[in-house]
Amino acid sequence: MNFQLTEEHLAVQEAAREFAQKELLPGVIDRDIEARFPAEQVQKMAELGFLGMMVDPNYHGGGMDTLSYVIAMEELSKIDASASVAMSVNNSLVCWGLEKYGTEQQKENYLKPLASGQILGAFCLSEPEAGSDATSQRTEAVREGNFYILNGTKNWITNGSSASVYLVIAQTDHSKGHKGISAFIVEKGWDGFVIGKKEDKMGIRGSDTHSLMFTDVKVPVENRIGEEGFGFNFAMETLNGGRIGIAAQALGIAAGAYEFSLAYSKERKAFGKPISQHQAIQFKLADMATQIEAARLLVYKAAVLKDQGEDYAHASAMAKLYASEVAMNVTTEAVQIHGGYGYVREYHVERLMRDAKITQIYEGTSEIQKIVISRSLLR
Ligand code: CAA
Repeated sequence: MNFQLTEEHLAVQEAAREFAQKELLPGVIDRDIEARFPAEQVQKMAELGFLGMMVDPNYHGGGMDTLSYVIAMEELSKIDASASVAMSVNNSLVCWGLEKYGTEQQKENYLKPLASGQILGAFCLSEPEAGSDATSQRTEAVREGNFYILNGTKNWITNGSSASVYLVIAQTDHSKGHKGISAFIVEKGWDGFVIGKKEDKMGIRGSDTHSLMFTDVKVPVENRIGEEGFGFNFAMETLNGGRIGIAAQALGIAAGAYEFSLAYSKERKAFGKPISQHQAIQFKLADMATQIEAARLLVYKAAVLKDQGEDYAHASAMAKLYASEVAMNVTTEAVQIHGGYGYVREYHVERLMRDAKITQIYEGTSEIQKIVISRSLLR
Protein backbone atom coordinates (compact mmCIF):
# COMPACT_ATOMS: atom_id res chain seq x y z
CA MET A 1 0.00 0.00 0.00
CA ASN A 2 1.39 3.34 -1.03
CA PHE A 3 -0.17 6.63 0.00
CA GLN A 4 2.04 8.78 -2.25
CA LEU A 5 0.64 10.19 -5.48
CA THR A 6 3.00 9.91 -8.44
CA GLU A 7 4.45 12.91 -10.29
CA GLU A 8 1.83 12.35 -13.01
CA HIS A 9 -1.03 12.31 -10.52
CA LEU A 10 0.26 15.48 -8.88
CA ALA A 11 0.51 17.14 -12.30
CA VAL A 12 -3.11 16.23 -13.09
CA GLN A 13 -4.16 17.59 -9.70
CA GLU A 14 -2.31 20.84 -10.28
CA ALA A 15 -3.71 21.30 -13.77
CA ALA A 16 -7.27 20.61 -12.61
CA ARG A 17 -6.92 22.90 -9.60
CA GLU A 18 -5.61 25.73 -11.75
CA PHE A 19 -8.35 25.22 -14.31
CA ALA A 20 -11.04 25.26 -11.61
CA GLN A 21 -9.73 28.51 -10.14
CA LYS A 22 -9.13 30.31 -13.44
CA GLU A 23 -11.95 29.03 -15.60
CA LEU A 24 -14.71 27.64 -13.41
CA LEU A 25 -14.76 30.02 -10.46
CA PRO A 26 -15.51 33.21 -12.43
CA GLY A 27 -19.22 33.21 -13.18
CA VAL A 28 -20.10 30.06 -11.26
CA ILE A 29 -22.62 31.92 -9.09
CA ASP A 30 -24.34 33.51 -12.10
CA ARG A 31 -24.49 30.20 -13.95
CA ASP A 32 -26.17 28.68 -10.90
CA ILE A 33 -28.70 31.53 -10.63
CA GLU A 34 -29.48 31.46 -14.34
CA ALA A 35 -29.34 27.63 -14.56
CA ARG A 36 -26.94 28.07 -17.49
CA PHE A 37 -24.91 25.17 -18.87
CA PRO A 38 -21.15 25.90 -18.66
CA ALA A 39 -20.70 25.43 -22.40
CA GLU A 40 -17.51 27.48 -22.83
CA GLN A 41 -15.96 25.90 -19.75
CA VAL A 42 -16.79 22.37 -20.93
CA GLN A 43 -15.23 23.23 -24.29
CA LYS A 44 -12.02 24.20 -22.49
CA MET A 45 -12.20 21.00 -20.43
CA ALA A 46 -12.32 19.11 -23.71
CA GLU A 47 -9.21 20.94 -24.95
CA LEU A 48 -7.38 19.94 -21.77
CA GLY A 49 -8.39 16.30 -22.25
CA PHE A 50 -10.74 16.06 -19.26
CA LEU A 51 -13.61 14.51 -21.21
CA GLY A 52 -12.00 11.24 -22.24
CA MET A 53 -9.27 10.87 -19.66
CA MET A 54 -9.18 7.07 -19.45
CA VAL A 55 -9.80 6.24 -23.10
CA ASP A 56 -6.98 4.68 -25.12
CA PRO A 57 -5.09 7.37 -27.09
CA ASN A 58 -5.81 5.31 -30.24
CA TYR A 59 -9.42 6.44 -29.74
CA HIS A 60 -8.38 10.03 -28.98
CA GLY A 61 -8.46 9.65 -25.21
CA GLY A 62 -5.89 10.56 -22.58
CA GLY A 63 -4.85 6.99 -21.74
CA MET A 64 -4.78 7.82 -18.03
CA ASP A 65 -5.78 5.71 -15.07
CA THR A 66 -8.93 5.99 -12.97
CA LEU A 67 -6.96 7.53 -10.11
CA SER A 68 -6.03 10.49 -12.34
CA TYR A 69 -9.67 10.84 -13.29
CA VAL A 70 -10.93 10.95 -9.68
CA ILE A 71 -8.18 13.40 -8.74
CA ALA A 72 -9.31 15.73 -11.55
CA MET A 73 -12.98 15.21 -10.68
CA GLU A 74 -12.32 16.21 -7.06
CA GLU A 75 -10.57 19.44 -8.04
CA LEU A 76 -13.21 20.55 -10.55
CA SER A 77 -16.05 19.64 -8.20
CA LYS A 78 -14.63 21.86 -5.48
CA ILE A 79 -15.78 24.77 -7.58
CA ASP A 80 -18.39 23.69 -10.13
CA ALA A 81 -20.28 20.42 -9.80
CA SER A 82 -22.40 21.28 -12.85
CA ALA A 83 -19.29 21.20 -15.03
CA SER A 84 -17.90 18.13 -13.32
CA VAL A 85 -21.04 16.04 -13.81
CA ALA A 86 -20.85 16.67 -17.56
CA MET A 87 -17.29 15.34 -17.36
CA SER A 88 -18.21 12.36 -15.19
CA VAL A 89 -21.06 11.24 -17.44
CA ASN A 90 -18.98 11.60 -20.59
CA ASN A 91 -16.00 9.70 -19.15
CA SER A 92 -17.59 6.95 -17.11
CA LEU A 93 -21.10 6.45 -18.39
CA VAL A 94 -20.52 6.98 -22.09
CA CYS A 95 -16.88 6.52 -23.17
CA TRP A 96 -16.15 3.61 -20.84
CA GLY A 97 -18.96 1.38 -22.13
CA LEU A 98 -18.28 2.23 -25.75
CA GLU A 99 -14.61 1.43 -25.37
CA LYS A 100 -15.27 -1.84 -23.54
CA TYR A 101 -18.24 -3.16 -25.53
CA GLY A 102 -18.47 -1.10 -28.71
CA THR A 103 -17.64 -2.42 -32.18
CA GLU A 104 -14.71 -0.92 -34.07
CA GLN A 105 -17.20 0.99 -36.21
CA GLN A 106 -18.98 2.37 -33.12
CA LYS A 107 -15.64 3.42 -31.67
CA GLU A 108 -14.68 5.12 -34.90
CA ASN A 109 -18.01 6.92 -35.27
CA TYR A 110 -18.73 7.79 -31.65
CA LEU A 111 -15.94 7.06 -29.19
CA LYS A 112 -13.32 9.15 -30.95
CA PRO A 113 -15.30 12.41 -31.01
CA LEU A 114 -16.63 11.74 -27.49
CA ALA A 115 -13.21 11.02 -25.99
CA SER A 116 -11.66 14.11 -27.55
CA GLY A 117 -14.58 16.16 -26.25
CA GLN A 118 -15.58 17.26 -29.74
CA ILE A 119 -19.08 16.13 -28.76
CA LEU A 120 -20.74 15.20 -25.46
CA GLY A 121 -22.60 12.04 -24.57
CA ALA A 122 -25.54 11.17 -22.31
CA PHE A 123 -26.61 7.96 -20.59
CA CYS A 124 -30.32 7.22 -20.66
CA LEU A 125 -31.55 4.64 -18.17
CA SER A 126 -34.02 6.40 -15.84
CA GLU A 127 -37.67 6.70 -16.79
CA PRO A 128 -40.71 8.33 -15.18
CA GLU A 129 -41.50 4.97 -13.54
CA ALA A 130 -38.06 3.35 -13.50
CA GLY A 131 -35.54 5.12 -11.27
CA SER A 132 -34.13 2.87 -8.56
CA ASP A 133 -36.16 -0.01 -9.97
CA ALA A 134 -34.19 0.10 -13.18
CA THR A 135 -35.35 -3.25 -14.55
CA SER A 136 -38.89 -1.84 -15.05
CA GLN A 137 -38.03 -0.30 -18.41
CA ARG A 138 -41.04 0.87 -20.43
CA THR A 139 -39.01 2.23 -23.35
CA GLU A 140 -39.06 -0.43 -26.02
CA ALA A 141 -37.12 -1.17 -29.17
CA VAL A 142 -38.80 -3.50 -31.65
CA ARG A 143 -36.69 -5.03 -34.39
CA GLU A 144 -37.83 -4.45 -37.97
CA GLY A 145 -35.27 -5.72 -40.47
CA ASN A 146 -32.02 -3.80 -40.09
CA PHE A 147 -33.50 -1.32 -37.64
CA TYR A 148 -35.04 -1.16 -34.20
CA ILE A 149 -38.06 1.09 -33.74
CA LEU A 150 -37.58 2.92 -30.47
CA ASN A 151 -40.47 4.32 -28.40
CA GLY A 152 -40.53 5.69 -24.88
CA THR A 153 -39.55 8.44 -22.48
CA LYS A 154 -36.39 8.93 -20.43
CA ASN A 155 -36.19 11.24 -17.42
CA TRP A 156 -33.56 13.33 -15.61
CA ILE A 157 -30.94 12.90 -18.33
CA THR A 158 -27.67 14.71 -17.63
CA ASN A 159 -26.25 16.52 -20.71
CA GLY A 160 -29.82 16.12 -22.02
CA SER A 161 -29.70 18.95 -24.54
CA SER A 162 -25.95 19.50 -24.89
CA ALA A 163 -25.14 15.90 -25.85
CA SER A 164 -24.95 14.72 -29.44
CA VAL A 165 -24.85 10.98 -28.70
CA TYR A 166 -27.16 9.13 -26.30
CA LEU A 167 -26.74 5.61 -24.92
CA VAL A 168 -30.33 4.46 -24.52
CA ILE A 169 -31.45 1.41 -22.54
CA ALA A 170 -34.67 -0.19 -23.83
CA GLN A 171 -36.71 -3.35 -23.57
CA THR A 172 -36.38 -5.57 -26.62
CA ASP A 173 -38.24 -8.58 -25.21
CA HIS A 174 -40.70 -8.04 -22.36
CA SER A 175 -41.05 -11.78 -21.72
CA LYS A 176 -37.40 -12.03 -20.62
CA GLY A 177 -37.44 -9.37 -17.88
CA HIS A 178 -34.04 -7.75 -17.43
CA LYS A 179 -32.53 -10.30 -19.83
CA GLY A 180 -34.73 -8.72 -22.51
CA ILE A 181 -33.18 -5.27 -22.15
CA SER A 182 -30.71 -3.92 -24.74
CA ALA A 183 -28.52 -0.84 -25.16
CA PHE A 184 -28.44 1.44 -28.22
CA ILE A 185 -26.53 4.43 -29.51
CA VAL A 186 -28.91 7.16 -30.66
CA GLU A 187 -27.93 10.42 -32.33
CA LYS A 188 -29.44 13.80 -31.67
CA GLY A 189 -31.53 14.95 -34.61
CA TRP A 190 -32.87 11.57 -35.67
CA ASP A 191 -36.54 11.66 -36.67
CA GLY A 192 -38.85 11.15 -33.72
CA PHE A 193 -36.24 12.03 -31.08
CA VAL A 194 -37.41 15.07 -29.11
CA ILE A 195 -35.58 16.74 -26.25
CA GLY A 196 -38.20 17.51 -23.63
CA LYS A 197 -38.41 19.93 -20.78
CA LYS A 198 -35.40 21.10 -18.86
CA GLU A 199 -35.66 20.43 -15.15
CA ASP A 200 -35.55 23.40 -12.75
CA LYS A 201 -33.39 21.90 -10.03
CA MET A 202 -32.36 22.53 -6.44
CA GLY A 203 -28.66 22.07 -7.19
CA ILE A 204 -26.24 21.43 -10.07
CA ARG A 205 -28.40 24.04 -11.74
CA GLY A 206 -25.92 24.60 -14.56
CA SER A 207 -26.20 20.96 -15.60
CA ASP A 208 -28.79 20.54 -18.35
CA THR A 209 -31.12 17.84 -17.09
CA HIS A 210 -33.90 16.95 -19.52
CA SER A 211 -36.56 14.42 -20.29
CA LEU A 212 -36.24 12.80 -23.71
CA MET A 213 -38.99 11.42 -25.92
CA PHE A 214 -38.57 8.77 -28.59
CA THR A 215 -41.41 8.19 -31.06
CA ASP A 216 -40.77 5.57 -33.74
CA VAL A 217 -37.07 6.45 -33.87
CA LYS A 218 -35.27 4.19 -36.37
CA VAL A 219 -32.06 2.92 -34.80
CA PRO A 220 -29.80 0.86 -37.09
CA VAL A 221 -29.00 -2.63 -35.78
CA GLU A 222 -25.29 -1.77 -35.93
CA ASN A 223 -25.97 0.82 -33.19
CA ARG A 224 -26.87 -1.85 -30.65
CA ILE A 225 -24.15 -2.23 -28.00
CA GLY A 226 -23.32 -5.88 -27.43
CA GLU A 227 -25.84 -8.65 -27.91
CA GLU A 228 -29.59 -8.26 -27.65
CA GLY A 229 -30.47 -8.78 -23.97
CA PHE A 230 -27.15 -7.46 -22.68
CA GLY A 231 -28.43 -3.94 -21.99
CA PHE A 232 -29.23 -4.26 -18.30
CA ASN A 233 -25.92 -5.85 -17.39
CA PHE A 234 -24.24 -3.23 -19.57
CA ALA A 235 -25.99 -0.46 -17.60
CA MET A 236 -25.10 -1.99 -14.23
CA GLU A 237 -21.46 -2.48 -15.15
CA THR A 238 -21.30 1.04 -16.50
CA LEU A 239 -22.80 2.43 -13.31
CA ASN A 240 -20.18 0.66 -11.19
CA GLY A 241 -17.58 2.94 -12.77
CA GLY A 242 -19.95 5.92 -12.91
CA ARG A 243 -20.38 5.71 -9.16
CA ILE A 244 -16.63 6.20 -8.68
CA GLY A 245 -16.93 9.44 -10.67
CA ILE A 246 -19.88 10.66 -8.59
CA ALA A 247 -18.11 9.63 -5.38
CA ALA A 248 -15.18 11.80 -6.51
CA GLN A 249 -17.60 14.61 -7.27
CA ALA A 250 -19.11 14.34 -3.78
CA LEU A 251 -15.61 14.32 -2.31
CA GLY A 252 -14.78 17.48 -4.26
CA ILE A 253 -17.96 19.26 -3.15
CA ALA A 254 -17.09 18.44 0.47
CA ALA A 255 -13.44 19.45 0.08
CA GLY A 256 -14.42 22.70 -1.65
CA ALA A 257 -16.82 23.62 1.15
CA TYR A 258 -14.15 22.77 3.71
CA GLU A 259 -11.54 24.94 1.97
CA PHE A 260 -13.92 27.91 1.81
CA SER A 261 -14.70 27.39 5.51
CA LEU A 262 -11.08 27.11 6.59
CA ALA A 263 -10.18 30.36 4.85
CA TYR A 264 -13.27 32.14 6.17
CA SER A 265 -12.65 30.98 9.74
CA LYS A 266 -9.25 32.69 9.73
CA GLU A 267 -10.67 35.99 8.48
CA ARG A 268 -13.93 36.33 10.33
CA LYS A 269 -13.65 37.72 13.84
CA ALA A 270 -16.07 37.20 16.70
CA PHE A 271 -15.64 37.93 20.39
CA GLY A 272 -12.34 39.67 19.65
CA LYS A 273 -10.55 36.91 17.71
CA PRO A 274 -10.78 34.96 14.44
CA ILE A 275 -13.51 32.34 14.72
CA SER A 276 -10.83 29.70 13.95
CA GLN A 277 -9.58 30.40 17.50
CA HIS A 278 -12.86 29.20 18.97
CA GLN A 279 -13.03 25.53 19.82
CA ALA A 280 -16.59 25.26 18.48
CA ILE A 281 -15.23 26.02 15.00
CA GLN A 282 -11.99 24.06 15.44
CA PHE A 283 -13.96 20.90 16.24
CA LYS A 284 -16.17 21.38 13.20
CA LEU A 285 -13.08 21.77 10.98
CA ALA A 286 -11.50 18.68 12.53
CA ASP A 287 -14.62 16.59 11.89
CA MET A 288 -14.94 17.87 8.34
CA ALA A 289 -11.28 17.18 7.49
CA THR A 290 -11.45 13.68 8.98
CA GLN A 291 -14.58 12.75 7.07
CA ILE A 292 -13.15 14.12 3.84
CA GLU A 293 -9.94 12.14 4.26
CA ALA A 294 -11.89 8.92 4.93
CA ALA A 295 -14.04 9.56 1.84
CA ARG A 296 -10.94 10.22 -0.26
CA LEU A 297 -9.41 6.90 0.79
CA LEU A 298 -12.58 5.03 -0.24
CA VAL A 299 -12.71 6.86 -3.58
CA TYR A 300 -9.03 6.19 -4.30
CA LYS A 301 -9.41 2.54 -3.30
CA ALA A 302 -12.31 2.03 -5.71
CA ALA A 303 -10.32 3.74 -8.48
CA VAL A 304 -7.21 1.66 -7.83
CA LEU A 305 -9.18 -1.62 -7.74
CA LYS A 306 -10.67 -0.71 -11.12
CA ASP A 307 -7.21 0.06 -12.50
CA GLN A 308 -5.89 -3.23 -11.18
CA GLY A 309 -8.66 -5.17 -12.91
CA GLU A 310 -10.20 -6.30 -9.61
CA ASP A 311 -13.92 -6.42 -8.82
CA TYR A 312 -14.81 -2.87 -7.83
CA ALA A 313 -18.65 -2.87 -7.69
CA HIS A 314 -18.72 -3.13 -3.91
CA ALA A 315 -15.91 -0.57 -3.42
CA SER A 316 -17.51 1.94 -5.79
CA ALA A 317 -20.86 1.63 -3.99
CA MET A 318 -19.14 2.15 -0.62
CA ALA A 319 -17.22 5.14 -1.96
CA LYS A 320 -20.35 6.76 -3.38
CA LEU A 321 -22.46 6.01 -0.31
CA TYR A 322 -19.90 7.42 2.10
CA ALA A 323 -18.61 10.36 0.04
CA SER A 324 -22.13 11.60 -0.69
CA GLU A 325 -23.09 11.45 2.99
CA VAL A 326 -19.87 13.33 3.80
CA ALA A 327 -20.67 15.93 1.13
CA MET A 328 -24.04 16.57 2.75
CA ASN A 329 -22.62 16.75 6.31
CA VAL A 330 -19.62 18.88 5.43
CA THR A 331 -21.50 21.39 3.27
CA THR A 332 -24.16 21.79 5.98
CA GLU A 333 -21.42 22.49 8.53
CA ALA A 334 -19.74 24.87 6.08
CA VAL A 335 -22.93 26.94 5.94
CA GLN A 336 -23.05 26.89 9.75
CA ILE A 337 -19.45 28.12 10.05
CA HIS A 338 -20.22 30.96 7.64
CA GLY A 339 -23.33 31.89 9.65
CA GLY A 340 -25.50 34.49 7.90
CA TYR A 341 -22.94 34.80 5.08
CA GLY A 342 -23.24 31.08 4.48
CA TYR A 343 -26.91 31.46 3.70
CA VAL A 344 -26.34 33.89 0.84
CA ARG A 345 -25.03 33.06 -2.61
CA GLU A 346 -21.86 35.13 -2.59
CA TYR A 347 -19.96 32.81 -0.27
CA HIS A 348 -20.45 29.65 -2.39
CA VAL A 349 -21.20 27.22 0.42
CA GLU A 350 -25.00 27.32 0.13
CA ARG A 351 -24.59 26.32 -3.54
CA LEU A 352 -22.25 23.49 -2.60
CA MET A 353 -24.83 22.32 -0.03
CA ARG A 354 -27.55 22.27 -2.70
CA ASP A 355 -25.18 20.52 -5.12
CA ALA A 356 -24.23 17.91 -2.51
CA LYS A 357 -27.78 16.58 -2.27
CA ILE A 358 -27.86 15.14 -5.77
CA THR A 359 -24.84 12.95 -5.05
CA GLN A 360 -27.05 10.96 -2.66
CA ILE A 361 -29.57 10.46 -5.46
CA TYR A 362 -28.14 10.07 -8.96
CA GLU A 363 -26.29 7.02 -10.29
CA GLY A 364 -28.07 5.04 -7.58
CA THR A 365 -29.47 6.53 -4.36
CA SER A 366 -27.73 5.88 -1.04
CA GLU A 367 -30.33 3.18 -0.42
CA ILE A 368 -29.42 1.46 -3.71
CA GLN A 369 -25.72 1.58 -2.76
CA LYS A 370 -26.65 -0.20 0.48
CA ILE A 371 -28.41 -2.90 -1.57
CA VAL A 372 -25.30 -3.35 -3.74
CA ILE A 373 -23.00 -3.47 -0.70
CA SER A 374 -25.16 -5.79 1.41
CA ARG A 375 -25.78 -8.20 -1.49
CA SER A 376 -22.04 -8.51 -2.01
CA LEU A 377 -21.53 -9.07 1.75
CA LEU A 378 -24.16 -11.78 1.88
CA ARG A 379 -23.34 -13.50 -1.42
N1 CAA B 1 -22.75 -4.66 -11.06
C1 CAA B 1 -22.86 -5.64 -12.00
N2 CAA B 1 -24.01 -6.30 -12.21
C2 CAA B 1 -25.06 -5.97 -11.44
C3 CAA B 1 -25.02 -4.98 -10.47
C4 CAA B 1 -23.79 -4.31 -10.29
N3 CAA B 1 -23.64 -3.32 -9.39
N4 CAA B 1 -26.23 -4.85 -9.89
C5 CAA B 1 -27.02 -5.77 -10.48
N5 CAA B 1 -26.31 -6.43 -11.42
C6 CAA B 1 -26.77 -7.51 -12.30
C7 CAA B 1 -27.05 -8.77 -11.51
O1 CAA B 1 -25.88 -9.54 -11.33
C8 CAA B 1 -28.06 -9.46 -12.40
O2 CAA B 1 -27.39 -10.04 -13.49
P1 CAA B 1 -27.69 -11.55 -13.98
O3 CAA B 1 -29.16 -11.65 -14.19
O4 CAA B 1 -26.87 -11.68 -15.22
O5 CAA B 1 -27.25 -12.44 -12.88
C9 CAA B 1 -28.86 -8.30 -12.98
O6 CAA B 1 -28.02 -7.13 -12.87
C10 CAA B 1 -30.16 -8.03 -12.27
O7 CAA B 1 -29.85 -7.80 -10.93
P2 CAA B 1 -30.86 -8.02 -9.75
O8 CAA B 1 -31.56 -9.33 -9.91
O9 CAA B 1 -30.10 -7.80 -8.49
O10 CAA B 1 -31.92 -6.87 -10.04
P3 CAA B 1 -32.79 -6.05 -9.02
O11 CAA B 1 -33.89 -5.47 -9.81
O12 CAA B 1 -33.13 -6.84 -7.80
O13 CAA B 1 -31.81 -4.88 -8.48
C11 CAA B 1 -30.53 -2.88 -8.65
C12 CAA B 1 -30.94 -4.21 -9.27
C13 CAA B 1 -29.19 -3.04 -7.98
C14 CAA B 1 -31.51 -2.35 -7.62
C15 CAA B 1 -30.47 -1.98 -9.89
O14 CAA B 1 -31.76 -1.86 -10.44
C16 CAA B 1 -29.91 -0.62 -9.63
O15 CAA B 1 -28.69 -0.46 -9.54
N6 CAA B 1 -30.77 0.43 -9.57
C17 CAA B 1 -30.34 1.78 -9.54
C18 CAA B 1 -30.25 2.34 -10.91
C19 CAA B 1 -29.39 3.54 -11.00
O16 CAA B 1 -28.30 3.60 -10.45
N7 CAA B 1 -29.84 4.55 -11.74
C20 CAA B 1 -29.09 5.70 -11.98
C21 CAA B 1 -29.51 6.33 -13.25
S1 CAA B 1 -28.21 6.86 -14.23
C22 CAA B 1 -27.82 8.43 -13.72
O17 CAA B 1 -28.19 8.88 -12.67
C23 CAA B 1 -26.93 9.09 -14.67
C24 CAA B 1 -26.81 10.55 -14.66
O18 CAA B 1 -27.28 11.18 -15.59
C25 CAA B 1 -25.92 11.23 -13.70
